[in-house]
Amino acid sequence: MTPNKLAENLMEKIKHKQANIGFIGLGYVGLPWTVEFARMGFHVWGIDIDKEKVDNITKGISYIPDVPTMDLAQVVKSGHFQATTDFSCIRNLDTINICVPTPLRKTKDPDVSFIDNAANEIAKYIKPGQLIILESTSYPGTTEELVMPIITKTGLEVGKDIFLAFSPERVDPGNKVHTPRNVPKVVGGVSSYCTEAACELYKSCLTQVVPVSSPKVAEMVKLLENTFRIVNIGLVNEIALLSSRLGMNVWEVIDAAKSKPFGFMPFYPGPGLGGHCIPVDPFYLSWKARSLGFEARFIELAGEINGQMPHHVVNLIADALNERGKCIKGSNIHIIGVAYKKDINDVRESPSIDIVDVLHKKGAKISYTDPYVPQLKIEALNERFISRPLDNQLLKSADCVVIITDHSCIDYASIVANASLIIDTRNALKNYRSEKIVTL
Ligand SMILES: NC(=O)c1ccc[n+]([C@@H]2O[C@H](COP(=O)([O-])OP(=O)(O)OC[C@H]3O[C@@H](n4cnc5c(N)ncnc54)[C@H](O)[C@@H]3O)[C@@H](O)[C@H]2O)c1
Repeated sequence: MTPNKLAENLMEKIKHKQANIGFIGLGYVGLPWTVEFARMGFHVWGIDIDKEKVDNITKGISYIPDVPTMDLAQVVKSGHFQATTDFSCIRNLDTINICVPTPLRKTKDPDVSFIDNAANEIAKYIKPGQLIILESTSYPGTTEELVMPIITKTGLEVGKDIFLAFSPERVDPGNKVHTPRNVPKVVGGVSSYCTEAACELYKSCLTQVVPVSSPKVAEMVKLLENTFRIVNIGLVNEIALLSSRLGMNVWEVIDAAKSKPFGFMPFYPGPGLGGHCIPVDPFYLSWKARSLGFEARFIELAGEINGQMPHHVVNLIADALNERGKCIKGSNIHIIGVAYKKDINDVRESPSIDIVDVLHKKGAKISYTDPYVPQLKIEALNERFISRPLDNQLLKSADCVVIITDHSCIDYASIVANASLIIDTRNALKNYRSEKIVTL
């Protein structure tokens, strides 16, 4: 390998925290990283097309629960972090990380238009010596087949004039133990200089970096991780449906199985998948597989089983009401927790949306409590629900209380004491025994 002065200069700048760092996309992934790098002493620019987010950052106000407003305000005030909607600041950057959304289209095909837009903005202002890292989850090949051609049409050569890598994001919103700084980061560059430069950047902020041979491998690592989860959740959801037919409690089965010290890892059933990752990312892989004439059958099957879970919850509600001589139509059904998982405010793809949608269409009167989600808008119903404080009167007036999300701050004792019927999809009431509790 011949020495590359541009790469060496860039790595020196990173080592001495003199590099100007940029992040495109300031959501659940981008914002925590900008604040981390700014706290490490770098000068960081955050670019987002959402002016409201940029205005909030400028005022020092965080909109992501994992980023304390105090930490954000401090780095903004010290001048280490500034946010903008103006992409021309890319001219002054040494590194640019892309953290834009990668949703699915209605047809379940990948929507990589956000990556495409971000790469085209970078291409307008790119200059030799810069490092570009894609962090958005996507199908194997995205970095080299989509981003690289946009960058190279400027005449710059990747690996020589400019450095390009993929590094999957593993942030787990709401997780207080595994934070961005202590979770290893996988890095795959287009060339060895690209990998080295990207590793240097992450090394300045976190404990372990795992280099791999190419961006494609790094892209596949992320999809393997999330496919592993969707398939195991699908399996345990199927076991839950079967256990219910066999008249046994699946949670007791899993608890006992996990006493095996090897060869078993517990996964838990639930009301359905939610969030921006598990219900979405594996379908990027199955889409890519199809383009090669290969059917990713585990992914499709897991998607099918997990997709049935919200309907299973509705059936549990209908059966339990029926046993009490009631029906869904006209019943007061109170939902606890609408975020897709505990202790966060994200409702994207949350199973609560499907459950509320179906119950509402069947004539139930719906209310909900979620301290993290003050309002819930359900597009399909053209309805906006407002979170209500959980009080005894509310619980007593409900014909059925359904626990969808087990936020740590919820008062489970008051639910058990005051509700007449509870559908517990998370085993949140495992410490309480009562005839009125129905589990998955
Ligand atoms: N949220 C998670 O837990 C998580 C975990 C791992 C990986 N990921 C992946 O990381 C990526 C980002 O996810 P997220 O949850 O942060 O999304 P998000 O929706 O919270 O944030 C994305 C941000 O990008 C902005 N944006 C969109 N297009 C843009 C553009 N062209 N230029 C500048 N900004 C633009 C949006 O306004 C938004 O603020 C996705 O690929 C996702 O799959 C997310």
